[in-house]
Order: sequence, then C-alpha cells, then structure tokens
Amino acid sequence: MRVLVTGATGVVGRPLVGALRARGHQVSALVREESRAKAPDADAVVVADALDRQGLLSAVAAVRPEAVVHQMTALRLLRDDPAAAFARTARLRAEGTAGLVEAAREAGARRLVAQSIAFAAAPAGGPVLDEEAPLYVDAPDPGWAATVRAVAELERLVLGGPGPAGAGPAGPGSAGPGPEGVVLRYGTLYGPGTAYARTGATGQAVLAGRLPLPEGAAGITSFLHVEDAVGAAVAAVESETTGVFHVTDDEPAPAAQWLPHYARTLGGPAPRTVPAALAPRLLGWFVAHQLTAARGAANGRARTALGWRPGRPSWRDGLGAE
Ligand SMILES: NC(=O)c1ccc[n+]([C@@H]2O[C@H](COP(=O)([O-])OP(=O)(O)OC[C@H]3O[C@@H](n4cnc5c(N)ncnc54)[C@H](OP(=O)(O)O)[C@@H]3O)[C@@H](O)[C@H]2O)c1
Repeated sequence: MRVLVTGATGVVGRPLVGALRARGHQVSALVREESRAKAPDADAVVVADALDRQGLLSAVAAVRPEAVVHQMTALRLLRDDPAAAFARTARLRAEGTAGLVEAAREAGARRLVAQSIAFAAAPAGGPVLDEEAPLYVDAPDPGWAATVRAVAELERLVLGGPGPAGAGPAGPGSAGPGPEGVVLRYGTLYGPGTAYARTGATGQAVLAGRLPLPEGAAGITSFLHVEDAVGAAVAAVESETTGVFHVTDDEPAPAAQWLPHYARTLGGPAPRTVPAALAPRLLGWFVAHQLTAARGAANGRARTALGWRPGRPSWRDGLGAE
C-alpha cells in the first residue's frame, strides 16, 4: 500500500516508517523544510509544514497515498518552552488535522490514522475507563482544558463527526466523503526518545529527586512502549476497522506503584512524599492531576477490533531501563 507518514522525524514516526517498509508498504515521509536533513530512510520524502494548507495539499497530492498517518505534535518543545509546545500542538491538532483530512480526501486516500492521547478523560467513574468516557474538556486548568478540546477536535475531524452547526459532516470546507478514520489514543509513551527515557525530561526530574509522590498517589497511568505505538499504527493502517482505540499496556497502575519502581530502575533516589494539597503548587496542575486523580485506559477494543496486543504488556518490563 502507498502510505504517507507525517511527523516522520518523530519519536513514533521515524520507527514507523521502517516498520511499514518492513511490511512491504511503499512509504513516503512528510517532513518540514528545516528538518529535511533528519528525514528517515523512506521510499520518498515530501516537504511541507502542516500549518501551511496549500503546501500540505500539494505535498500529499504528489505521493497519492492510499493511507495517511498523522503523528505530528510540537511536544518536543516542552522542555524549553512549554507554553509554545502546547499552543503549537493544539494548532496541529485542530488546523493541521483539518488540512490533512482535506489533503487526504483530495488525494483519494482511503484511510487516515491519527495519534491522540489516552489520558484526556474526565476523572469520573472507575479507575480504568473505556473509549466511551467523556473527555475532560471542562478541566479546571485552562491550559489542560484547551489541550483536551484540541484533542476532541482532532478526533472529530478524523472520524468525520458533526462539526459546528451547519458546517457539514467534516466541518468547514468539507466536500465529499473523506478517508475512513482511526484514532489511536496512545498511553503515556516510554522508551527511546520519550520524556520517560533516562535523558528525557521526566527521567531527569526523577533522577534529580524533583518528582515527589503526593500522599495517596492514587492517580492511574496507562503506559505504552514506543515499539507498541508503532505496532498499533501498522495494525491500524492494514485494518479495515474505523473508530477510536485506547492503545495502552495491560497494567494501568497508580503512581504509588509505578513512580517508586521507575526511580529504582533509573537508579535515582526514592521519591519523597508531599501532602496532596501542596501537589498542584509544587508540580503544576497537570502532573498533580496525573499523580492523584487521573484514570487509566482499557485496551480491550484495540485488542478485539484491531487484533493488536502490546509486545510489552507491563511497564514493569522496561520503564526507566532505556
Ligand atoms: N502519548 C504520549 O505520552 C505522548 C504523545 C505525544 C508526545 N509525547 C512526548 O512528547 C515528546 C515528543 O514526542 P512526539 O512523537 O509527539 O513528538 P516528536 O518526536 O517531536 O515528533 C513530532 C513530529 O511532528 C513533526 N511536526 C511538528 N510540527 C510540524 C509541522 N508544523 N508540520 C509538519 N510536521 C510537524 C515533527 O517534525 P520536525 O522534526 O520538523 O519538528 C516531528 O516529526 C516525547 O517526549 C514524547 O514522550 C508523549
């Protein structure tokens, strides 16, 4: 199949190009002008910025993909400029996805597979939620609420859901049926190049003793190794199934379990405990939420409908080891 991977220089995108080629697909990589030199070894490379609609339309048309994979974020900026990382990622999720859906449709692509996140659900109900749980679009933190609204918009655009009143099925500019959409809600990524790698931002914070455990630490995280994110994207490209899927390991875990294990594996100090009420001030709203209130994400639907299963069923098999 002719497959176009966007975000092809990224943590997931780069190994995905190799994995798809190993399966016999003809793979094109979309990169930006400034990252052309970092382009992966693909059958073809096309250059466009996803926020430049016309450039994106031309680049996608040039390779006539049957399937398009969206792995674009600007989260690499997180360490240096978190506000810009979130703002630009929100634009990529809304505007960038709208452009990509249009480009895929105009190029005649049959499938569109897009990266989303499995930790955007509102913290209500049981400790582990399925894909029907409402997203936390009204989170009390304005930054996280904006992130989750952009995630919801990405998912709506990819799945072709109803847009703003009168805008038609795929929102403004929609003309004719778009590609079949698959949303892969990745769990918290770990492995090479991620924030949880030894050299990543979270790894460094834990090694420096800067990630304490709020008392109780009952927030649940569902992890995912990068290799399993790649495997799920390959399965989604090759499947006929559409819809939204949690792509997570089999062992959603409370922070009280995974954080001390992670610190030990990294060889860092045991995390100290802090009063839960101080956590938002010490850690910022999102990290405090993740460690105290977040819910895990069940992967049953991806197993059944995509035939995917994690090669690393538990974060215990490698979180902090790379
Ligand atoms: N589920 C999760 O836990 C999760 C999800 C996402 C990210 N993260 C974390 O965030 C960090 C980055 O991971 P990632 O794979 O999302 O990001 P990444 O490795 O930075 O990959 C993002 C890709 O998007 C591309 N891109 C960015 N802006 C673009 C634009 N305007 N037009 C076209 N392409 C554009 C980048 O290309 P350039 O090389 O040109 O910049 C890159 O190929 C990691 O630490 C990861 O752990 C975690």
